[in-house]
Amino acid sequence: MAKTTMSAAKNLVRLLVLVQVSLGLLGGVAALSFDYYGMTCPFAEMMVRSVVYDALMKDPTLAGSLLRLHFHDCFVQGCDASVLIDSADGNTAEKDAQANLTLRGFEVIDRIKELLESQCPGVVSCADVLALAARDAVLLARGPYYGVPLGRRDGTRSVDSDTFTALPPAFFNVTMLMKLFGSHGFTVQDMVALSGGHTLGVAHCANFKGRLAETDTLDAALGSSLGATCTANGDAGVATFDRTSTSFDTVYFRELQMRRGLLSSDQTLFESPETRGIVNMFAMNQAYFFYAFQQGMLKMGQLDLKEGDDGEIRHTCRVINSS
Ligand code: HEM
Repeated sequence: MAKTTMSAAKNLVRLLVLVQVSLGLLGGVAALSFDYYGMTCPFAEMMVRSVVYDALMKDPTLAGSLLRLHFHDCFVQGCDASVLIDSADGNTAEKDAQANLTLRGFEVIDRIKELLESQCPGVVSCADVLALAARDAVLLARGPYYGVPLGRRDGTRSVDSDTFTALPPAFFNVTMLMKLFGSHGFTVQDMVALSGGHTLGVAHCANFKGRLAETDTLDAALGSSLGATCTANGDAGVATFDRTSTSFDTVYFRELQMRRGLLSSDQTLFESPETRGIVNMFAMNQAYFFYAFQQGMLKMGQLDLKEGDDGEIRHTCRVINSS
């Protein structure tokens, strides 16, 4: 009898631990929640939205830039706003690493943070601001809305070399992309959906000139116009990822089907048997792409979160508090 009671008690403890782990209350998962600032800064989300709205009204090309900032934050040391920190004497920060030199939108984040600090000082993290600004940029570019769980903490380290292997370069093929994304727990479908972020924005010749040699898989007309751009402007030449670069839509995937992908890492998604079916499905079914993108962003926004004293709420997104 006593044995049965003991084993029932043990099972109950196991069950409680399981429930707590799945709720993120125990173990390595920092608990985020949708109403994290409900009592401490109830209008935080509205403040972020209004600044992003103003910025995109003036310059719709910032939508892609804000989305990319969040991606480059989360893939390097987790979503902790380390990408926003300025270099200082003796430290070259992530934002000054080669892969980050064309990041834009820092001033928009500064404006959001200033507004938040004026209303609720020391409450809303820069990492949450980035996650919300990316979501709002997608939404305002007519992409899907998704709820962003909040409560991230800001990191206190930002070193250029941390980006070297963390961020995917433009020449990656599907195998390399799957390895990198897989290492963060993403599925192949997540990876293709997140690459669909390239429905917004531009790239520079420095990143797509390699593609000009891939004549088997590059539409001839696109090849000659990209070639002309790079000849005229060198590495600084710019081209959009798709022909609707300020609209979040499926045109990116349809252009891959036409061999009009801008980067090698884009076109490889259509050329490889592992991912071609997913590209075709997203090209055909916007609702499905939007759903998969939301799932991917939800996962991406929770990569390697800082917990407790590992993080802080920065007062200025460009500088860690203690410095
Ligand atoms: C799959 C691997 C990926 C590779 C190899 C890659 C690479 C690149 C490169 C090389 C650029 C252009 C940089 C320049 O020349 O200025 C770029 C731009 C961009 N990337 Fe990615 N990226 C990847 C995934 C993602 C993901 C997951 C997102 C977001 C969910 C994203 C969002 C963007 C956006 C929106 C831009 C345009 C930024 C702007 O116009 O300012 N990328 N990416």
